[in-house]
Amino acid sequence: HFDENADIWLFGYGSLIWKADFAYLERRSAYINGWERRFWQGSHDHRGTLEAPGRVVTLTPVPGAICHGMAYRITPETLAPLDHREKNGYLREVTPLHFTDGFQEQTTGLVYLATEDNPAFLGPDTLEAMASQIARASGPSGPNRDYLVNLAQALRHLKVEDAHIFALEQQLNSL
Ligand code: BEZ
Repeated sequence: HFDENADIWLFGYGSLIWKADFAYLERRSAYINGWERRFWQGSHDHRGTLEAPGRVVTLTPVPGAICHGMAYRITPETLAPLDHREKNGYLREVTPLHFTDGFQEQTTGLVYLATEDNPAFLGPDTLEAMASQIARASGPSGPNRDYLVNLAQALRHLKVEDAHIFALEQQLNSL
């Protein structure tokens, strides 16, 4: 349960890593345990269309895994519109959060994730199929390809190893 007036740490593992178009008080490199980032969520509203949905990331539970990303300290006023915007298939979860810069402090964070029971969920496919779907799709937020390339670049910048993302990027570049 959250103190309604307290600052909130929002953990981003997808587009929020490189594009935070909201006001934040502080931003810190962070990770969460027990999750892996996967291009398993369909996007017909941002990075694709109804006819040709794109693929964006969600989290899948994997015991012992670590998912690196970026945490933003925000006020409850900032969270409300985000909550509305990210609702397309994404649920908000509470999670322990660890910072990677400076001290290895732990706090509580919020994260948006899309589970297999939302209608836009696509789930796994072969790297080839996922890469060619991403190569073809484009939506109001831009080409799906840019989303993958921007994410891979942001992860490299953070010195994060992410086999799934880098393999998909390599596959995309080989098309
Ligand atoms: C993220 O980057 O964590 C994210 C962005 C949009 C929707 C859900 C999650």
